[in-house]
Amino acid sequence: MSSDPRSKSNVVLPGGLLAILGGGQLGRMTAMAARTMGYRVRVMDPERVCPASFVVDETIVGRWDDVEAAKRLATGADAVTLEIEQIGVDALSQVGQIAPLRPGVEPIRIIQDKTLQKAWLAKTGIPVGPFRVVREKSELLDVVPALGGRVFLKIGRGGYDGRGQARIGVDAPATPESISQAWESIGSRPAVAEAALDLDFEISVMAARNPSGEVRTFPAARNHHENQILAWSVLPAGIPQELEARAESLAAEIVEKMGIEGLLCVEMFVTRQGELLVNELAPRPHNSYHQSERGCVTSQFEQAVRTACNLPLGDTALISPAAIVNLLGEVWIDKTPNFAAALAVPGVRLHLYEKHTPRAGRKMGHLSSTGATAEEALERVLDAKCRL
Ligand SMILES: Nc1ncnc2c1ncn2[C@@H]1O[C@H](COP(=O)(O)OP(=O)(O)OP(=O)(O)O)[C@@H](O)[C@H]1O
Ligand SMILES: [Mg+2]
Repeated sequence: MSSDPRSKSNVVLPGGLLAILGGGQLGRMTAMAARTMGYRVRVMDPERVCPASFVVDETIVGRWDDVEAAKRLATGADAVTLEIEQIGVDALSQVGQIAPLRPGVEPIRIIQDKTLQKAWLAKTGIPVGPFRVVREKSELLDVVPALGGRVFLKIGRGGYDGRGQARIGVDAPATPESISQAWESIGSRPAVAEAALDLDFEISVMAARNPSGEVRTFPAARNHHENQILAWSVLPAGIPQELEARAESLAAEIVEKMGIEGLLCVEMFVTRQGELLVNELAPRPHNSYHQSERGCVTSQFEQAVRTACNLPLGDTALISPAAIVNLLGEVWIDKTPNFAAALAVPGVRLHLYEKHTPRAGRKMGHLSSTGATAEEALERVLDAKCRL
């Protein structure tokens, strides 16, 4: 074990200290997988009491751009990984000087800004829908008609779960007023304007690449969003084999070309015209693969640990169809959820993130289930959620 970043290709064995930038639910579940394998875990988060804080050895309090806190996180760590891409580039660079940072600084710099990310995808020849990077309101006024009048506007930095997004011309025809209003609603900041696509369905593919260069993809997951937030996800996606192969090879191509050492989730659209287009990238565990804990030989969280520690990647084969449904803060509003009733559904398990203040749209936990088929797994989690 060494914290010398030159020993980058070295394997970090159990007993080593894994550091994670971010202590939300993704950091928590990664930490739990790491602990199962005998690692010690330290996280950094703006909140002392965060979902990961209950399961780790140490929580360092620091904002995402806090260079000093990030250095403290990295000091003595055998490897550093992340669960959120919004970490300041200065903080990341400093971390990388102290301990192996996986994935590296450059992929995170590109992915954390949707304007850079979309431009990178297009330049690399990855299929994406029509889009334009917009820096001024006046540009947007020209871009909306050029993109066909129906547009998703997304801020470059800091958007998630549909926050930092505005729809233009989707619910009613676009006007100069509605375009101005959309620009202001996202804070008048550099953004990506995308043509609103006619979606048939949405899938994602989780890819992993370890520092030794080994690459593996998970089977594609099928995702359903409500109000731009993931509602449920199921494995397998139940798509034609040819599309499955294309989606997995696209994810493998991106993880290699970006030189990622870690996980990369590729969110994709399948349009009614039959095109397969990349929506966006996430260099970390992803909500659409929580069911990999139930359905795959290796979960996404264990795979995250394996990539960060440069261990051989785990088998991603499906052992059973599996689904998850998210539990947002709404489930708690005005009532105590009836967990016993939900857990009476065969195959269902409960995962709560120990967030103590429910808010509308806040991801508080999820329900998972296996089933004989993807449909059955999904029916079970949806039934369980209704019973709450
Ligand atoms: N160009 C588009 N055309 C049609 N639907 C879209 C488009 N862009 C986004 N959406 C819808 O909005 C959802 C959220 O968009 P996106 O993933 O870009 O935003 P986000 O805020 O980063 O979300 P998350 O953090 O949940 O991944 C998509 O999964 C899709 O359902
Ligand atoms: Mg998304």
